[in-house]
Amino acid sequence: MEKIKVMSVFGTRPEAIKMAPLVKKLASYDEISSLVCVTGQHREMLDQVLSAFEITPDFDLDIMEKSQTLYGVTSKVLSGLQKVFEENRPDIVLVHGDTTTSFAAALAAFYGRIKVGHVEAGLRSFDKNSPYPEEMNRVLTGRLADIHFAPTASNERNLFNEGIKEHVYVTGNTVIDAIKSTVRKDYVFECPQLNDIDYEAHKVVLMTAHRRENYGQPMENIMQAVADTARERQDALFVYPVHLSPYVQQTARKYLEGIENVLLIPPLGVFDMHNLMSRVYMVMTDSGGLQEEAPALGKPVLVLRRETERPEAVKAGTVEVIGTEREKVHSRAVDLFEDHELYLKMKKAVNPYGDGDACRRISENILYFFDRAKKPSDRFGV
Ligand code: UD1
Ligand code: UDP
Repeated sequence: MEKIKVMSVFGTRPEAIKMAPLVKKLASYDEISSLVCVTGQHREMLDQVLSAFEITPDFDLDIMEKSQTLYGVTSKVLSGLQKVFEENRPDIVLVHGDTTTSFAAALAAFYGRIKVGHVEAGLRSFDKNSPYPEEMNRVLTGRLADIHFAPTASNERNLFNEGIKEHVYVTGNTVIDAIKSTVRKDYVFECPQLNDIDYEAHKVVLMTAHRRENYGQPMENIMQAVADTARERQDALFVYPVHLSPYVQQTARKYLEGIENVLLIPPLGVFDMHNLMSRVYMVMTDSGGLQEEAPALGKPVLVLRRETERPEAVKAGTVEVIGTEREKVHSRAVDLFEDHELYLKMKKAVNPYGDGDACRRISENILYFFDRAKKPSDRFGV
């Protein structure tokens, strides 16, 4: 019997981190031939992940440009994939989440009459403009997909409410699979500055910020609030691996460079990042992925956005969405330094996003979809 040809297409750092364990898992099935195509929407930040997980892509569209636009990314992914799909004819293309690579790859597969599997399906903020353009990217990808891997039951409900009811499987999030292979007690950091930090003596805060809808005033507010807090709290140390977006680099430097207890460093490799997260006092971020990882590691998270598509950890009490107003960001950070009860309440480890077995479930459901298994996989969370 011929193997099922599965082509995973991704292009940015978070997609790569969350697809890496799946790519490995798919390769372990005799019934599957697993191919990887990267778009290169990110370059250095993608390559860091590929090398950390030792994945060599079969195809690389290499599209990244400095300060690239959504138009540019979308059109280059579409035209680049046409050739790859025509020459290789996968049975199914797997895309992840909500990036422009994901949406454009799903559209390209649909144009090529190739089945689409959507990993991390069904997350919704219900605001078309925030996160921008991710909310529309994932809604449109959901419409294009033939098989939907929803991390949680609430993600599944979102799809049902949009009339998407067939081939929806609750699998858990693959990021929890990834984190199980990265965090170690005796880990030595590749980034030397992280080995020099005394994680007991300081309240170490891990921060990141990169969202497009935060460009402009919101991002300036965030940086100013962190500067205010750092100057006021000499017991704190802010560690900030700065995203390579020229706008983010510029804004971070403008407000935070030269402050003694703010460590601005280049983007971290994923092993460094997860192990750093496991040692810090708390996390401040507008990232999607960090909102899933930090609760699993028992770290409180202040989300620097107006909304979230990940309400599970908010409900569990370990994540708080605080917006981007300068004073609010500053005061909530200070609260978490000073209010021990609040801190302990938010610090508990919760894992609403997965149990480390998402990749197996996704693979088994692919086999089921192609009639190579009698039943779908078990369901996460039951
Ligand atoms: C993209 C995704 C966003 C995701 C984020 C993860 C879209 C529209 N946005 O946003 O959903 O949360 O990735 O980080 O799909 N750059 C480099 N080297 C790199 C990566 C980026 O120099 O390795 C610079 C380039 O100048 C690039 C810019 O960052 O033009 C922005 O990259 P882009 O992928 O367009 O947007 P992100 O903000 O990274
Ligand atoms: N990450 C990393 N190095 C960094 C910053 C983030 O490895 O310097 C990882 C992080 O642990 C998570 C993912 O990248 O797994 C999140 O990516 P990002 O915040 O860029 O995107 P989002 O999740 O918001 O789409």
